[in-house]
Amino acid sequence: MSTLLPDCTAVVLVLSISAVVSLWALIWNTQPLLSKLPYPPGPAPTSAMSGNRIQIMSTPCVWRKYKEWAEEYGDIMYLRSFRQPVIVLNSFEDAVELLEKRSRIYSSRSVSPMYKLMGFNANTAIKEYGPDWRKHRRIFQQSFKPDSSLEYRPIQTRKMYDMLYGFLNTPEDFEAHIKTLAGAIILFVIYGYDVAPKDDHYVKLVESTRPGFGLGLSPKWLVNSFPALRHIPSWFPGAGFKQYASAMSERNIEAREATYKYAMTTLASSGNGYKPIACSLSDSYTSPTDLRILKEAAASGYGAGVGTTQGTITIFIEAMILFPDAQKKAQEEIDRVTRGKRLPEYDDEGSLPYIQALVREVVRWKPLLPLCLAHANDEDDMYKGYYIPKGILNDDDMTYVFGFGRRICPGRHLGLATVWLAVATILASFNLRRRRDASGNELPLNVKYTEYGVTCYPLPFECSITPRTDEARQLILEKRYEA
Ligand code: HEM
Repeated sequence: MSTLLPDCTAVVLVLSISAVVSLWALIWNTQPLLSKLPYPPGPAPTSAMSGNRIQIMSTPCVWRKYKEWAEEYGDIMYLRSFRQPVIVLNSFEDAVELLEKRSRIYSSRSVSPMYKLMGFNANTAIKEYGPDWRKHRRIFQQSFKPDSSLEYRPIQTRKMYDMLYGFLNTPEDFEAHIKTLAGAIILFVIYGYDVAPKDDHYVKLVESTRPGFGLGLSPKWLVNSFPALRHIPSWFPGAGFKQYASAMSERNIEAREATYKYAMTTLASSGNGYKPIACSLSDSYTSPTDLRILKEAAASGYGAGVGTTQGTITIFIEAMILFPDAQKKAQEEIDRVTRGKRLPEYDDEGSLPYIQALVREVVRWKPLLPLCLAHANDEDDMYKGYYIPKGILNDDDMTYVFGFGRRICPGRHLGLATVWLAVATILASFNLRRRRDASGNELPLNVKYTEYGVTCYPLPFECSITPRTDEARQLILEKRYEA
């Protein structure tokens, strides 16, 4: 026995020395080797200084341009925005290979200087890879994994009845009703907060930070191109961006503190048996750092979950108007199950395979984030003989609407369940059609989408939403009064 221990130690020692030596040899050998490899091909920069920046930022629907370029340069393309390398992946296989199989180094984000100044780097979706993000992610995994997401279904159902009631009364405001639905679910699930149908105080507060989120990547801020400008004092001529950023940062803090405080002070008095996420985790997130992370993650849910859910349901409405046969087929399936005597419920999911397929198709049809959210690699890498420098990766394949690898959307189960119930109950209750003019002729439906930046959201459009039957109208009114 007594000789075993020293022998073992010796073996371990030899192994670890050789591990260090071989790791050192690897670093020593591969770093110069990597940078000797060619960059992937790509379009020529339009300026020596800013590279392809203007093409990236000012081409409408840049994802279409990427597809066009891919024909010429191949599935892996290299572009440059000032000194920032940008790699565009045009195939699903390459995205899986890098963003999933090599997710250890491809899971970060490149945070624009303006985002940092405005405090958006507190948002889970924007955070760089590291211990802070891991803790954020744990909160989302724990709260939105498939079985936890089932617990929110009564909330989703109640809020859905409110939306149907809105459709019945003011169908012309359908987009506002969908947005209220998406926000109401998130705010109740996370903070236990019941939003008012109109002009809600907390909705206004969290919404007031959204313009900054959209603008954070804009080239209109010089600091995004010349990060050193972030050091100039805010009183300096031309430093208006700093004043804007600091106002936005204060609003971000105010929104996350106010919503969290609401949850903590109301829980004791609510007595409705539901413990919102912010409250149920507060016992285990007590240190100042953990508490900050809990508040940040909670606040991230609204920004990440509302626009995406709202956009998907709006796209479903567009799709049903454009494809009336699919609408009819879906309504027939629902009628076979409910006989028009009740609204569809989550328990009907298994009996409505066409609705299930329709939801999948709608999500895939017009992805809201056609380029996903750019992942950033925090180490240089080699792939298919190319040098992949530390930088940004844009995935241009639409197969994975919820993203990739370690950054995959953690709210997808909740989001999809909301979309499913919206699709089933709207189709059960309403006919969705083009509007008609005074002579009864159908007006064309021309839905436009946002074209710049990373999102592709439907812009407001008009359509006709009418109850299918008197019975359907009655069912909505009954549910409304039950709630
Ligand atoms: C149909 C609705 C939704 C769609 C299409 C969608 C899509 C996406 C996509 C494409 C990403 C980027 C993934 C990546 O970088 O690889 C993402 C990230 C994220 N989503 Fe969703 N999402 C939806 C609903 C939700 C909901 C309801 C929530 C909140 C409960 C949510 C929370 C998040 C968060 C926190 C992130 C950032 C994850 C990270 O960076 O680690 N999403 N989502």
